[in-house]
Amino acid sequence: MGRYDLALIGFGGVNRALAELMSQNGDRLAEELGFALRVVAITDLRAGSLVDTDGIDLAPLLAAEPGELSFAGLAGGSADPRNEWVIREVPADIVVEATFTNPTDGEPALSHVRWALESGKHVCTTNKGPVALAGRALKRLAAERGVGFEFEGSVLSGTPVLRTAERMFGGLEITGVQGIMNGTSNYILGRLEEGIELSAAIAEAQELGYAEADPTADIEGHDVQLKVMILANEVLGADLRREDVFCEGISSLTPHEVRDAASKGLRWKLVGSATRHEDGSVDARVTPLALPAQHPLAGICGPVNAVAFHTDLLGTVTVSGPGAGRTETAYALLSDITAIHQRHGDDDSAPTCPVLKETHRV
Ligand code: HSE
Repeated sequence: MGRYDLALIGFGGVNRALAELMSQNGDRLAEELGFALRVVAITDLRAGSLVDTDGIDLAPLLAAEPGELSFAGLAGGSADPRNEWVIREVPADIVVEATFTNPTDGEPALSHVRWALESGKHVCTTNKGPVALAGRALKRLAAERGVGFEFEGSVLSGTPVLRTAERMFGGLEITGVQGIMNGTSNYILGRLEEGIELSAAIAEAQELGYAEADPTADIEGHDVQLKVMILANEVLGADLRREDVFCEGISSLTPHEVRDAASKGLRWKLVGSATRHEDGSVDARVTPLALPAQHPLAGICGPVNAVAFHTDLLGTVTVSGPGAGRTETAYALLSDITAIHQRHGDDDSAPTCPVLKETHRV
């Protein structure tokens, strides 16, 4: 059986959850997926960096409280994240980028992805910034280097929205998308409806791991704005910039308004949409809407998200599932690694991409 060596960039909730999946279910996953996984490097803004090309023992790292983890005293460890050196120089097969999302310029994640692709390494990321702001250029770079660039988790965490559109909709024309794409705001709107105050609902969403480190992006719609850009660019062939996508969040809604609407059979939802017109132009927006109960998106509650694809031959096809959460987003990375394996696993033509290694397990 082959094996992929991973460099984890960022060791917050998502990559930690991926490490947990590997640590707890590694053998079962290997058997089912047909490849093994090993972590050879980890970098993290707070913990520093850790490199062991024979494979890092994840158990003691996962036993430590996240806030207390430091790689400084460990063999192969440093207090300095050394991101560029780790990404470019450590012989990993796949760089797994899960640092924080920067909606303005995508950095530092954008550089992380670029360094990895330039170094001939496959990349998978849950980070919306690089995909929304520079997806086209990064895909071109990956194609030039003969490596994979996968980002399923950038929209709806592990729920396969992008891959469904890419792999299952051959021959269909997609004319528009509309969705509830932020678990935090959807959870909060539901809690407001139940009478919980905004600040308490935000704190709950953070505790549950749905919210971004800075929940402003969830509340003000910037998170959905990036996801709409990714969907529009990937699925509708657009090339939207942030300023092209009108964005209004839920902070102007009062708990009274939400409860009042509910009493009239309406549900406030933060809806992201993109439409392709006959002349080929695409417009996109993020805005709260009070949906009637019979609207297909009105029943999407809590952290659950949904994207409705409007198509020519099938009408509307809706994909629904978790849109946030540590394990759910880590699953997106696993599905990305699987996609890389399917596309490149026995591809010897890639110029610098390391070939899947033989691994021996007793
Ligand atoms: N904070 C996001 C959400 C998760 O609540 O949906 C990842 O985009």
